[in-house]
Amino acid sequence: MTYTTPVLRHSRSDRIIHWMNALLWLLLSATGIALVDHPELAVFGEAYPAFVRSLVGGGATLLRLHITLGCLWAASFIIYAVVNGKGAAFFLRSVFTPQQGDMTWLARKSIQMTFGVSAAKRLGMRLDLPPQGYYNAGQRALAALIVLGCCAVAASGAVMALAPSVSAAEHPVFVACVPWALLVHHFSVGFIIAGLFIHIYMAAIAAEERPAFLSMLIGTVPAEYARNAHPLWIVAPGAGSQHTTAEGEAS
Ligand code: HEM
Repeated sequence: MTYTTPVLRHSRSDRIIHWMNALLWLLLSATGIALVDHPELAVFGEAYPAFVRSLVGGGATLLRLHITLGCLWAASFIIYAVVNGKGAAFFLRSVFTPQQGDMTWLARKSIQMTFGVSAAKRLGMRLDLPPQGYYNAGQRALAALIVLGCCAVAASGAVMALAPSVSAAEHPVFVACVPWALLVHHFSVGFIIAGLFIHIYMAAIAAEERPAFLSMLIGTVPAEYARNAHPLWIVAPGAGSQHTTAEGEAS
């Protein structure tokens, strides 16, 4: 393997689910924010909910659209797990398996990003980062927040969507959970969106991660980037095909 040899990082189905998820998050956020018709929670101004409602033909249609998009979003993960079960299992295992040196990586990376490398060196701080595997500690922490947050968003959304068809007399506990579901929905979405600012900055804007950004479009990274940024991944047996084949699908 030469320095420029392309190494497969994201299979075709990984890339499709990722960008479909990003598009659906955009649409769900746009319709969800328009459903909140309260002057103190008007993120895009008080005219925004009225504008989106008029665009789709009223509040009831907007709610139906939001629920349909939510079902499509949840279904896309089920389809992904069926099409690329090994990829989904690899992703969950990687994200939820802590590694030695994670806290050191997170602390030193935060110092690097807050003070800058030269200022931190002048203060005598150690900045060498422990070697990372397929995902670095920051990616794993953020992905764990996103996965758990998405489960909470989907479960609380399902409770709210089913609420109108559930009788309070027959299922009092379910109906009592509905206001809590609303709270969980709003807080989880808030945490995920806050995390997405960091994710999008790190993945799409930070120059050092440009090869990873391109890999979400073309599938591969140069071996040089993989060796530098994810040395424990690249030295692992079968690196570049741990959960994918050269054809781009689950092995
Ligand atoms: C403009 C929007 C987005 C951009 C530019 C972007 C970019 C990327 C890139 C480049 C990677 C690959 C990182 C690597 O290989 O090291 C990635 C992975 C990931 N992204 Fe995004 N992303 C966006 C939106 C989202 C959204 C909305 C979510 C979830 C709500 C999300 C969740 C994830 C997760 C969980 C991963 C790790 C999974 C994997 O590598 O297959 N991203 N993203």
